[in-house]
Amino acid sequence: MVRISKIYSQEVLDSRGNPTIKAIVELSDGTKESAIVPSGASTGKREALELRDGDKNRFLGKGVLKACENVDLSICEALVGASPYDQGLIDAMLKDLDGTQNFSKLGANATLGVSMATARAAAKSLHIPLYRYLGGANALVLPVPMLNIINGGSHADNTVDFQEYMIMPLGFDSFSEALRASAEVYQYLKKILNEQNHITSIGDEGGFAPNLTNNTQPIEIILQAIEKAGYKPGDEIAIALDVASSELVDGSGMYHLAGEGRKLTSQELVAYYEEMVQKYPIVSIEDGLSEDDWEGWSYLTQRLGNKIQLVGDDLFVTNKKILAQGIEKNIANAILIKPNQIGTITQTMQAVRLAQRNAYKCIMSHRSGESEDNFIADFAIALNTGEIKTGSTARSERIAKYNRLLEIESELSNSEYLGTQLFKK
Ligand code: PGA
Ligand code: ZN
Repeated sequence: MVRISKIYSQEVLDSRGNPTIKAIVELSDGTKESAIVPSGASTGKREALELRDGDKNRFLGKGVLKACENVDLSICEALVGASPYDQGLIDAMLKDLDGTQNFSKLGANATLGVSMATARAAAKSLHIPLYRYLGGANALVLPVPMLNIINGGSHADNTVDFQEYMIMPLGFDSFSEALRASAEVYQYLKKILNEQNHITSIGDEGGFAPNLTNNTQPIEIILQAIEKAGYKPGDEIAIALDVASSELVDGSGMYHLAGEGRKLTSQELVAYYEEMVQKYPIVSIEDGLSEDDWEGWSYLTQRLGNKIQLVGDDLFVTNKKILAQGIEKNIANAILIKPNQIGTITQTMQAVRLAQRNAYKCIMSHRSGESEDNFIADFAIALNTGEIKTGSTARSERIAKYNRLLEIESELSNSEYLGTQLFKK
């Protein structure tokens, strides 16, 4: 019987140059696998705890040596001898060992790293790909990518308030064709920005970060890029936004659009979205209102829930209990799935199952601080999420996921790409 024989960790760097955890799991059959944990910038308040040392003499307080120690000592001691093939049990042991609701003792960065590395080691030891191990024979849907090609908010040092302007290549028959079209649009976008004398430096997720005067101008420029690339906006390539509006609320509950120099109530912001949706081919808005504004969310869902995808990121933090409340209150119609918001693979899968049972769409997601780790590519396919958000077609930490998806597409003889069917009622 194969058992976990050793678990340890290393402090490594993420795509912003901040420290993060690499967890390594060894099995008694000689298998060794590892995983690197990502990290967010616009984090939700109810996310599981990311344990940082706070020692200002190292990495400005962001070191993760304590979390590493938790992996090397208590987690290793608890899990050595366990079967790597029972992911549910492994993750339950991590939860029990921590004993808190949000992994505030061990750190969700410690637990997720071990959870991911264990799944990888189990798959490798069984000689099957990770997506097959986690998803079985039914894992075959290549996700529609949401590519964040203009970055703003807390992911860029520019004047754009909304955090992410994404394209969704819907009118294509395969993932690879959809990705090719998206990469072309990205190159045309760069040309257009250059021609209009905007800077073409990029933000944390590989999108351009120009200084624009309002929050609709990025959409106008992206639509030009789509057309220049020879595609039809809407039918072939649609627009999606992540407003990350929890970052925009001030103490009085108003939404501060600093770039536009105005403050809006949630109703006014919803009216702004309605205008945008009418004017532009927008198919999805994420965190349109803040994580605390549930009343506003209810209004937003009434106004736009039948027309477009409304995604809860900071709102639901991949937490099945919070999602259940949202379902009960008819709030949003989709959930962003970020494993490090909740701390284990099993809990992430529970949130996805609850969403899918209730016809909420699921979008597998990276974080703004990433690494070469491509776990979420396999995970999106394993869970048939149908959508993935993993940055633009620049920066190797984003490309690592796309290239893995291309690899999986070429491996599968029966893969499906939903494209326009994704939003068919
Ligand atoms: P984060 O951003 O990783 O900085 O939280 C991503 C998102 O908001 O979707
Ligand atoms: Zn978000």
